[in-house]
Parts: sequence; structure tokens; C-alpha cells
Amino acid sequence: MTEAGAKAIARAAEIIRSGRLVAVPTETVYGLAADATNDDAVARIFEAKSRPQFNPLIIHIAGAEMAKRYVDFSLLASKLADKFWPGPLTMVLPKREDSPLSLLVSAGLDSIAVRAPDHDTAQALIKAVDRPLAAPSANRSGSISPTTTEHVRHSLGDSVDLILEGGACSVGIESSIVKVDGDAVTMLRPGGLAREVIEEFIGRPLADVPPSQSPQAPGMLASHYAPRAKLRLNASAPQEGEAFLGFGAVAANSPLALNLSASGDLREAAANLFKHLHALDRIAATHGLKGIAVAPVPMEGLGEAINDRLMRAAAPRGA
Ligand code: TXA
Ligand code: MG
Repeated sequence: MTEAGAKAIARAAEIIRSGRLVAVPTETVYGLAADATNDDAVARIFEAKSRPQFNPLIIHIAGAEMAKRYVDFSLLASKLADKFWPGPLTMVLPKREDSPLSLLVSAGLDSIAVRAPDHDTAQALIKAVDRPLAAPSANRSGSISPTTTEHVRHSLGDSVDLILEGGACSVGIESSIVKVDGDAVTMLRPGGLAREVIEEFIGRPLADVPPSQSPQAPGMLASHYAPRAKLRLNASAPQEGEAFLGFGAVAANSPLALNLSASGDLREAAANLFKHLHALDRIAATHGLKGIAVAPVPMEGLGEAINDRLMRAAAPRGA
């Protein structure tokens, strides 16, 4: 790390320890981080994001050893951490009784969502603070997740005390969230680690939450991740007055069009998803367009998470 980088981390750590907020790059999306053991600091996150409710937050730790101070690991949870951490996998695990975490982090639940981010800056910050960081995506509630510092500035402006620069996020979509209860693994949110990869490792299909039981957590709100423009999904081409988000060969040769991945690569598409939605949203506003048409994206691999975010972005507002 450069001297300037080390200085920025030291300053960020000081800000976090004093109970204030820092936007931090991770491999998935930028997070709005606060000391997860400080109630007042965690409350500031909700305030800055204008989150309608106190939904539970993910805590970011350096790795399994640090996580074990706050949550209990089953044997399978330990194996998953060994295999996939640091990386875009969040595990919901039973909270330890002696955990010093703010109750706001878990919104009163007896479980905690933990993950170890795979990004040097995030890791350096966690180690410098030596406390877990609660960090949802660094954007106002309900708007598109940020994958660059410019997105963070645009969405949160002055409500964040410092924004750490870390370039564009390599994964570009939030982590996959699984609940690990002993041997049982349930998919709560598809994300940056494909379902198939987890299933191959555990040797069986992941359980899913029945729709009727799905917790009304932020990632579960119908209209989460919404751009301002209206989205029309599974479109083969733009109509008059629409911007276009292409995928693979389903593309439009127009200044109002972008392609998630010209070669049809789902990893590249995930990394570009929020960036392109941000850009097309601005194009739509500038040109007074009626909306954004989006090409079909296959459901395999990271396509599950991409389609999940697209469907939420397309859902009617105010849901
Ligand atoms: O990639 C990511 O995961 C990003 C980056 C910044 O790390 N973070 C992120 O955090 O998306 P957040 O706080 O927005 O995600 C919170 C989600 C909620 O939607 C909820 O579904 C789930 O985590 N969650 C948190 N705690 C939970 C718990 N105890 N039980 C079930 N779900 C929980
Ligand atoms: Mg978010």
C-alpha cells in the first residue's frame, strides 16, 4: 500500500472509532461502514441511507478467526468460510451470547450476517479498527448500489464523513447470503457467488425460503435497487423513446445503448450491471426517455443474482 493509502486508512479508522461513517470499497459494491459495536454509529447508517426500517445489516470481519468472536460456527460453516472467504459469500449464523454487537445490527434477531470482503482497502480498514464493521451498500435506500466512488458521492454526498477510493468493484453485485443452521444451508439472497458453486462444494442443492415466509429485509423489498427510469425486461430491442441495456448478441447500436457483456460473459455482466444502470438512468433523464429496455439474461451462474436485481429494479415503485 502507498503512503497516501496508509494515511487514508489511518484517518478512516479514526473516523470509525469516533462513531462516524466511512464509505469503503469491497469486491462486491461500496459499503457505508460504521463500528458495529456502537449503537449511535449504526443508527447513523440508517439515517444516512434514509432506510425506512431498521433492517438487519451485514458485519464485515477480516476472516473466520475474527468472526468467531461474534457468531457460532457449525462445522459446515467453518468449511464454507475456509473455502469462500474472503469473498462474496455472507453467512447468517447464530449470534454469540456475549457478542458486543449493537442490537441494531441484527434488528433484534438472534442471528448475525457476517462476511469477509476480498478487497485490500476493506481488509486494511477492518484490521486498523479491529472491530467489526456494519456496512450496507453506500447508497440511499431503494436506489442503485454503488460500484464506484462517484456513485457514492452522487447518492450520499455530505452524509458520509470520508469516501475511500478503491476503483471499480470487481464483482459489482452484492454478496450471496446463505443461512447456515448446523448442516442446513438456505439461500436468502442470490449474489456474487453463484448458487451452483456453493452447491457443488456442499454436494447438494441449497434450500430456498418459501416466498410466503421471506423476511421483509431491504434486499427483499420489491422495488429495491431501482433506477428512476422505468425498466422493461426481456426485451429483444429498444422501442421508440427507450434506452437499451444489451447482453451478448442482443445489443443495440445506438448512443442510448450499453451492453452488459458483448461476449455474453455473466461475470462481466454482473460487474457492469449497476454501473450501466446508473449511466442509462442519467441518459434517460437527459434525453427525456420513457424508460430502459433490458435484454434477457440467462438464469445460470451469476445470472440468478443479475435477474433478481433487474426484477426488483423493474418492480412498481412504492411497494
Ligand atoms: O455485498 C454486500 O453484501 C454488501 C457489501 C457492502 O458488503 N453489503 C450489503 O449489506 O449488501 P446489506 O446490509 O445491504 O445487506 C443486508 C441484507 C439484508 O437485506 C438481509 O436480507 C440480510 O442482509 N441479513 C442481515 N442480517 C440478517 C439476519 N440476521 N438474518 C437474515 N438476513 C439477514
Ligand atoms: Mg443495498
